[in-house]
Amino acid sequence: MKRDLISLNDLSLETIQGYLALATQVESMPDAERRRLLAGKILAVLFYEPSTRTRLSFESAMFRLGGNVLGFSETGSTSVAKGESLADTIRTVEQYADILVIRHPKEGTARLSAASCSIPVINAGDGTNQHPSQTLLDLYTIRKLFGKISGLRIAFAGDLKYSRTVHSLLQALGKFGDVRFEFVSPESLRMPSYLRDGLKGTGCTYRETVDLAAAVAECDLIYMTRIQKERFPDVLEYEKVKDAYCIDARLLKGAPSHLRILHPLPRVNEISPDVDSTVHAAYFPQVGNGVIMRQAILLDLLGVKP
Ligand code: CP
Repeated sequence: MKRDLISLNDLSLETIQGYLALATQVESMPDAERRRLLAGKILAVLFYEPSTRTRLSFESAMFRLGGNVLGFSETGSTSVAKGESLADTIRTVEQYADILVIRHPKEGTARLSAASCSIPVINAGDGTNQHPSQTLLDLYTIRKLFGKISGLRIAFAGDLKYSRTVHSLLQALGKFGDVRFEFVSPESLRMPSYLRDGLKGTGCTYRETVDLAAAVAECDLIYMTRIQKERFPDVLEYEKVKDAYCIDARLLKGAPSHLRILHPLPRVNEISPDVDSTVHAAYFPQVGNGVIMRQAILLDLLGVKP
């Protein structure tokens, strides 16, 4: 039976640990050995929303495993522009590829796609809902940085209402347990209640605050996010909060040396470029881990053991 990667809710802790172990194995393999693993396989990338990292890192991952890629990065040049339904597009593309990755602005689209076809489907972000491959690479990065996941004190900062990377990662961290969270956001962008409630019984705790400076002083990790203009129904609401937070070198002056900053990227103005050269910046190595983790995901879903 085919398997998909749609939501962190579908994954057990054991499965997540399996992905972390597989990514470690992939990272240690010689290039030449890796390039044979998916020779002859085709990945379809269907992006109904803009992307740099997710699409290009899936493509890079597929090429590094010896496979090929086809797809689109916007729908204007496809038959979607003529009114073709999502289900028909998926049924068409499954004739051309062995595995499919889809990004779409509507929540639930990836699951719908998975139900419409016989090849594995990977959710590359569905609206404000989930971004599971980002979460797996985030977990891989956190474990590399700290050697552990449980026992950390982690702040999520910025747009906690609409950020699918935050939503997915919070659910995953809840499965590990024993994480102390700081939810740092403007009042209008608070963590949704269903996600806060989901932490009950996990052994994790959380505190909601507007104070980024305190989180910088106290936490092991800040997971910074962009205030996402494209998610706001009312642009005036966006204008009120768009400059709510900015981490810069000055703010980091009193930070503990072990503090690390992650960001799913792209950033706009919430992390100053003067942070990039500090010991705290870990967001570009985080990007690199995306290629490793996405190789692990492709291998797993295609049932290929390295
Ligand atoms: N992290 C992430 O999803 O980046 P892109 O939007 O560039 O794919």
